[in-house]
Amino acid sequence: MTELAGKHIVLGLSGGVACYKSAELCRQLIKLGATVQVVMTEAATQFITPVTMQALSNRPVYVSQWDGREANNMPHINLSREADAIVVAPASADFVAQLVQGRADELLALLCLARPSSHVPLLLAPAMNREMWGHPATQRNLRQVQADGATVLGVGSGEQACGETGDGRMLEPAEIAEELVAFFQPKRLAGQRVLITAGPTFEAIDPIRGVTNHSSGKMGFAIARAAREAGAEVVLVAGPVHLPTPRGVRRIDVQSAAQMRDAAVAEAARATVFIATAAVADWRPAEPSRQKIKKDGSGRMPVLHFVENTDILHTVAQGERARSGALFCVGFAAESHDLLAHARAKRERKGIPLLVGNIGPAAFGQDDNQLLLVDAQGVRELPRASKLTLARDLVADIAARLAAPPVPQP
Ligand code: CTP
Repeated sequence: MTELAGKHIVLGLSGGVACYKSAELCRQLIKLGATVQVVMTEAATQFITPVTMQALSNRPVYVSQWDGREANNMPHINLSREADAIVVAPASADFVAQLVQGRADELLALLCLARPSSHVPLLLAPAMNREMWGHPATQRNLRQVQADGATVLGVGSGEQACGETGDGRMLEPAEIAEELVAFFQPKRLAGQRVLITAGPTFEAIDPIRGVTNHSSGKMGFAIARAAREAGAEVVLVAGPVHLPTPRGVRRIDVQSAAQMRDAAVAEAARATVFIATAAVADWRPAEPSRQKIKKDGSGRMPVLHFVENTDILHTVAQGERARSGALFCVGFAAESHDLLAHARAKRERKGIPLLVGNIGPAAFGQDDNQLLLVDAQGVRELPRASKLTLARDLVADIAARLAAPPVPQP
């Protein structure tokens, strides 16, 4: 992915142990297609050398505001004018305090102060000891710096270099890169509340065994990420999958179809968009055994009775919110053959305005896919691409539908 292609990022490092992570961040931003200009404070150079950052960014690093390499001797003006964004990672407690006071003691603080704030965003990835993070002065400064227009990306929690455990770790390089990519995406779903179901469900036979399917959840997780990038508030109801939660997304983990239904129905009460990507088991054992079912020596498998699970999408789509137009419902269909015919029939059966068809075996577990968008008017094909690219295209398509005047349902 070259999601940052054409973007020029000023990567600022202030003093903190987390500077070692900034080397990896620099690499990741470049891999994503960005050009990176590193600016370090004197304190940052105590933790990692400008040589390392120069080698990784392929550009001389700036430390001093008196850097004679600039013809006009104004690196704070030149560097901040070239940037598409300034990312300070790590942003120390002291550096944030400097920003709040509008200080310009060093080049990095000076160029943040001099940045054209209308079109050069400033993103901060704080890193500090948990006590420093929790101190009222730091929290006050963080609120103020946000009120002044900076974006604070948050911190991680866990073991710290000082040996203590708590909040204040710098986000991982991949998380900061994900936040930056998200930052540049158009905010097509701003103000929307998007609910997504994803992954398989697991229907218990006994405490040891169950019935499930091959859904990896990747498409649903990609849509959750894309919707959040587009500015929506996103809730992801996930069956049992081993995928990291996209940043900024609220995740509710469930196992069975019944749990997924309860969570989805509850969350649908305040959602404005519902996207059902989950491969919900159609049936569940009627009476799961409380104890492990043992072989009885007969050579025959015990007979299991199954009952049908509630159709979550149909239930939500028939609810008052969806019928009144307050909730836009999107279904998915995983088919093995005759995709278009099945997708058309399924859309009508489920009573939804948009159904997204894909060939199940070609999609399950893969990183790419191709989609067929079926509505009352016709069909639109999204050709084979990564699931994240398709998710962004789908989000753009849904956003356009939300913005358009309502189409009467057949
Ligand atoms: N779905 C759901 N709850 C169910 C079954 C399906 O919410 N109990 C949703 C899926 O998340 C998907 C859509 O319905 O968005 C279609 O799912 P699919 O399993 O392909 O369709 P079925 O209704 O099960 O139809 P069929 O078995 O005929 O393929």
